[in-house]
Amino acid sequence: MRGTVTYRGTPNIALIKYWGKRDDKLILPCNSSISLTLKGETTAVKGVPFNLYTKTSVLFSDKLAEDAFYINGKKQDLNDKDVAERFYVINQLRERAGNKSHVLVVSENSFPTASGLASSASGIATLIYAVSRALGLNISEKELSMIARQGSGSSCRSVMGGIVKWEKGTAPDGSDSFAHQLYPASYWPDLKDIIVIVSSAKKKVSSRAGMAQTVKTSPLYESRQKVLDKHIASVGAALRDKDLSKLAETVMKESNNMHATMLDTTPPIMYMDDNSKAIVYAIEDLNKNEGRAVAGYTFDAGANAHIITIEGNKDKVINQLKGIEGIESIVVAGIGNGPELLGEDESLIDSQRLAPK
Ligand code: DP6
Repeated sequence: MRGTVTYRGTPNIALIKYWGKRDDKLILPCNSSISLTLKGETTAVKGVPFNLYTKTSVLFSDKLAEDAFYINGKKQDLNDKDVAERFYVINQLRERAGNKSHVLVVSENSFPTASGLASSASGIATLIYAVSRALGLNISEKELSMIARQGSGSSCRSVMGGIVKWEKGTAPDGSDSFAHQLYPASYWPDLKDIIVIVSSAKKKVSSRAGMAQTVKTSPLYESRQKVLDKHIASVGAALRDKDLSKLAETVMKESNNMHATMLDTTPPIMYMDDNSKAIVYAIEDLNKNEGRAVAGYTFDAGANAHIITIEGNKDKVINQLKGIEGIESIVVAGIGNGPELLGEDESLIDSQRLAPK
């Protein structure tokens, strides 16, 4: 067993969305999804700048009196849902290593939590690397993604860098539902995600509760399953051919389709607000004026927009958004390499005091 281990990971943005489970306990999705693992370092365009890192330090020690988890300097209630997701992952690995020690986890996000930027995805993906290394376990990426999946579905796609697919699988035990890299980050370095923050408020309905309700009550959800095969094939071909227009058109349709099933849920779920809608219209206008899709918007379970485009179209997109008053900040992110191990000097834990630094 090692001392303190520190990793840094990043969120992902789904091009093909995961919204609905066929097994709530094992977290098995109704459909496969595809995402970009984002690069931590961003370029700020407007408002308060932020990067996209989650940094997590882990220490297992017999000298610890209890398990403890700190996020952004605050000691967490271990019964809180987000923390319970993370402990699910820790306990799986602790059991596997046959380790009975308590654990101290100290984690920091460099971006607004619970704003539709998946802090749980980067949180769990980063944690799983730090914990398995601290326990001296040697586990393949594929298997790590399957453990991460059971903490929170979308986190399995942040276990690796580049462009990633989470296979829905068909086995009832989840043994074929894992994430794998389609292309490394270097495959399409010009591809960008322009993140537009219109709200940093915590979302009213959690993804977990929202998607369960959609599966249960939305009549549109069944037809979404048919559309998904087309969207997956189209995104796959667009990525293969580096065809931005095809990619942009498909991600917009895909995001709109998922949000339509949310609205079709009883009671209805609306994550997009008036600012989100203004962004949709602005990008639709831009594409119309250009005579082809030069950018595509996509929204997760939140009001903030992700605009998928390439470096050469960045200024056009930013210019197009200028008039929207509700925009708080804009940063441009590229595609990243996934979780990375940091040195001892980067640790967030004081190993003498067995406490956060
Ligand atoms: C809209 O992964 O947060 O961001 O598995 O219940 O923890 P749980 O849900 P979560 O859902 C993410 C939903 C989404 C789409 C996506 O990232 O694919």
